Amino acid sequence: MLKFSAGILRPRKIMTTPTISPLSTALKSKIESRQAKLAVIGMGYVGLPLALLYTEQKFGVTGFDIDKRKVDTLNAGGSYIFRITPTEIQTARAGGLKATSNYAQISEMDAIIICVPTPLNEYHEPDLSFITNTAHAIAPHLRAGQLVVLESTTYPGTTEEVLVPILEGENKGGLKAGRSGNGSEKTFYVAFSPEREDPGNTSVARRDIPKVVGGLDPQASELAAALYGSIFNRVVRVSSPAAAEMTKLLENIYRCVNIALVNELKLLSLRMGLDIWEVIDAASTKPFGFQPFYPGPGLGGHCIPVDPFYLSWKAKEWDFRTRFIELAGEINVGMPYHVISSVAGALNRQKKALNGAKVLILGVAYKRDIDDLRESPALTIIELLQKEGANVSYNDPYFPMIGKGRKYDLQMKCASLDNLDQYDCVLIVTDHSDYDYRKIVKDAQLVVDSRNATKGIEDPKIVRC
Ligand SMILES: NC(=O)c1ccc[n+]([C@@H]2O[C@H](COP(=O)([O-])OP(=O)(O)OC[C@H]3O[C@@H](n4cnc5c(N)ncnc54)[C@H](O)[C@@H]3O)[C@@H](O)[C@H]2O)c1
Repeated sequence: MLKFSAGILRPRKIMTTPTISPLSTALKSKIESRQAKLAVIGMGYVGLPLALLYTEQKFGVTGFDIDKRKVDTLNAGGSYIFRITPTEIQTARAGGLKATSNYAQISEMDAIIICVPTPLNEYHEPDLSFITNTAHAIAPHLRAGQLVVLESTTYPGTTEEVLVPILEGENKGGLKAGRSGNGSEKTFYVAFSPEREDPGNTSVARRDIPKVVGGLDPQASELAAALYGSIFNRVVRVSSPAAAEMTKLLENIYRCVNIALVNELKLLSLRMGLDIWEVIDAASTKPFGFQPFYPGPGLGGHCIPVDPFYLSWKAKEWDFRTRFIELAGEINVGMPYHVISSVAGALNRQKKALNGAKVLILGVAYKRDIDDLRESPALTIIELLQKEGANVSYNDPYFPMIGKGRKYDLQMKCASLDNLDQYDCVLIVTDHSDYDYRKIVKDAQLVVDSRNATKGIEDPKIVRC
């Protein structure tokens, strides 16, 4: 049924003088004295670093994950994320970090932070199954006075319309989420707080990234602000979980649309014989009103290619079409195809066909200097090249092999960078900083560069696309 007027998502005013429940006072003082026991659900790229931040601040943290391999690795003091060392895990374990798959332990926790995946299904629609499965698993162990915070990126309304009904409907004590700001001894608290991690970015300390929180009621906001205030320097409160959910989507849609804009302008610049990178650098000297975005071989990662479609899906319920999101999606999805035609054109100019050509892809991670392959444009590019009959190899210092993922099954091994001249084309897809681009250009027969990684190197072998 279409929604034409504001219902559950109607913005609410923050109540300034609520009656404070003894339950929330008790939890707040436990948080402030670091006595609160924390559960982080989903020990992935978001949950594990968050758990480490809390153990650094002397909280007792239990990480929950359904992936037994992750639980066992953490409990053995190991790491499965490249930028987190085993030493960091061992230090955290000495500080009380534990990992488990046993949801019965939820009842011992004071605050529960959910960081599970929110992908799209095969029809490009939100797949909330990880959130709903988590909610079903938590609910039977829920107790009064606990705080539950959802961090997974999702459309506005998920916390109130999806998470809360399961928690309320399936707990054993008839507990209700605090809504009025008053609370009772049968209340638990709920908030949404989006994650703002930027993998690979070492210029901003995690602590210095302001944390947005939106509680279901003022007490939930107060508790979530206390919880995150213990690890972040600034907490920004908004009036509702939905406002916090929408904040995250605005941030990611802003990136998605601006990347699409610059990708489109790159295609035009190539046709006009202009160097878009030079133009962006020049425009970036404007001290106000311009933020640079850079073109590339296509979008990657768990967030930017996925999150905008959460909003466009939800918008349909309100009889609304999010045209910027759709157009940006169309342009960004087309970029790997542009890369393929650039490789084919470059080979053609050397009187070679793509069919049968040996192509080495440099960099398969979705962005520079990280070990994350999710939604990487390199995966699409490999598949498209193979479809055209190319003989494809890859090199990436972060991936000794590429096996099977949710949408691919490549079974490829990382090739060495020796004898680069055996390849008809070296295609730069991810501009890792460790590569010696001068040497690569010197050794290769032909270099197609989709990232401007060869900036400053002049050689007729280079084709920038
Ligand atoms: N990775 C990022 O840079 C980033 C940045 C901002 C926001 N986010 C958002 O954060 C959320 C988590 O992303 P991520 O990158 O950490 O994902 P991830 O895939 O790295 O980790 C998620 C973890 O959750 C576990 N899990 C799934 N279902 C579970 C369940 N029912 N119970 C316990 N554990 C379960 C998985 O096994 C996995 O270990 C997503 O919504 C994502 O959009 C991610």
